[in-house]
Amino acid sequence: MLSLTNKRILLGVTGGIAAYKCAELVRLFKQANSEVRVAMTNSAQEFITPLTLQALSGNHVFTNLVDVEAEAAMGHIELARWADLILIAPTTADFMTRIVQGKASDIVSALVLASHAPIAIAPAMNQAMWANNVTQKNLDVLNQRGITIFGPAEGEQACGEIGPGRMLEPMELIERCSDLFQKGLLAGKSLIITGGPTREAIDPVRYISNNSSGKMAFALAAEAAEADARVTLISGPVDLQTPPRVKRINVESAEEMFAKVMEFRSEMDIFIGVAAVADYRPKQVAKEKIKKIDEALNLSLIKNPDIISKIAALTKKPFTVGFAAETNSVVANGREKLHKKKLDLLFANNAIDTFNSDTITVTAIDQNSEYQLGPANKSVVARKMIELISAALEKDATENS
Ligand code: PMT
Repeated sequence: MLSLTNKRILLGVTGGIAAYKCAELVRLFKQANSEVRVAMTNSAQEFITPLTLQALSGNHVFTNLVDVEAEAAMGHIELARWADLILIAPTTADFMTRIVQGKASDIVSALVLASHAPIAIAPAMNQAMWANNVTQKNLDVLNQRGITIFGPAEGEQACGEIGPGRMLEPMELIERCSDLFQKGLLAGKSLIITGGPTREAIDPVRYISNNSSGKMAFALAAEAAEADARVTLISGPVDLQTPPRVKRINVESAEEMFAKVMEFRSEMDIFIGVAAVADYRPKQVAKEKIKKIDEALNLSLIKNPDIISKIAALTKKPFTVGFAAETNSVVANGREKLHKKKLDLLFANNAIDTFNSDTITVTAIDQNSEYQLGPANKSVVARKMIELISAALEKDATENS
């Protein structure tokens, strides 16, 4: 299994015939759920156009050190900091010399010089150029600097000669890049989290809601992304920044949240319902602002869909994790919800202490056990929750194998 999910790959393309293979390389990185940005030297653009790589990566391609427009969006120093890995493919003999000499004469060499990220190169050149003493000395220097060398492969070359100098094939490069990263606990898993409150409209300016801040859900989303899961966070209205590498979808009402969650029903491995979903909504939403006329106002409420129960009832059921915010008999009520909603795991907490707080104490409840996490910061507890989920998934996999 590849461990490239959420990884930020900066692909530097230099001017060799193998540059055309970068189209496939970018496509494979995207397929492995990496984020890819591309920088090209001038001569690379003779072999493949920036437009092709822009279309495939979904991002602007950097071609110039002094590009006012590109710098305004993301400066080259910011780009160098952004990368988890810089892969130069293909790497020409000339470009190897540029790295050795610490040049910053083009956008790709400048990025290499400015970055603290691990660097890997995939040399591609004529076999005599590869065998040349100068190139081999450069190779020694690059090795000593901790730069990873992928290839080259042996075989027939574009020039008709045979020998070492072919760039490794894109799939092999992808696998070698993946090997450079440690696999997180949830590598390869697709995870949907709901978070925050929902708002149930009464009229155009009023709604029913609750005090959920979204802090617990956002902490979990951040930790799950750290653990290499592909994370989608479906959030009610909250005032929080989206964690890095998390896809966020904003919703308002329970019905909207339900509809969005169901869009992912066939592709989720794990579902975590942290959202404080309103159980009821007004039966009718007034078209105009309701006037203050009578002493009492009666609202008729109807039940919202129970999102997590619908997920737990799917034929292709994901590992389903719920929360229970209780004001009394926290663990007993939590256990009842675990059974009633057919959940695999539930975190029960005291509603009064937890809403909008930075800290949390929860009891993790499954079919056989109870286990307290916290009191601690929500991020610390979120990390432990991810460990518990990962351990439970592993246990399930062993039992079913
Ligand atoms: O957002 P914070 O300020 O950080 O606070 C965190 C929290 C208190 C919101 C969180 O820790 C928590 O307990 N979330 C669940 C709150 C809740 O509404 O619990 P519940 O007992 O009503 O619901 C049980 C489970 O069913 C939950 O997983 C909930 O997401 C889910 N549910 C409930 C109703 C509904 N219509 N659809 C659902 O999916």
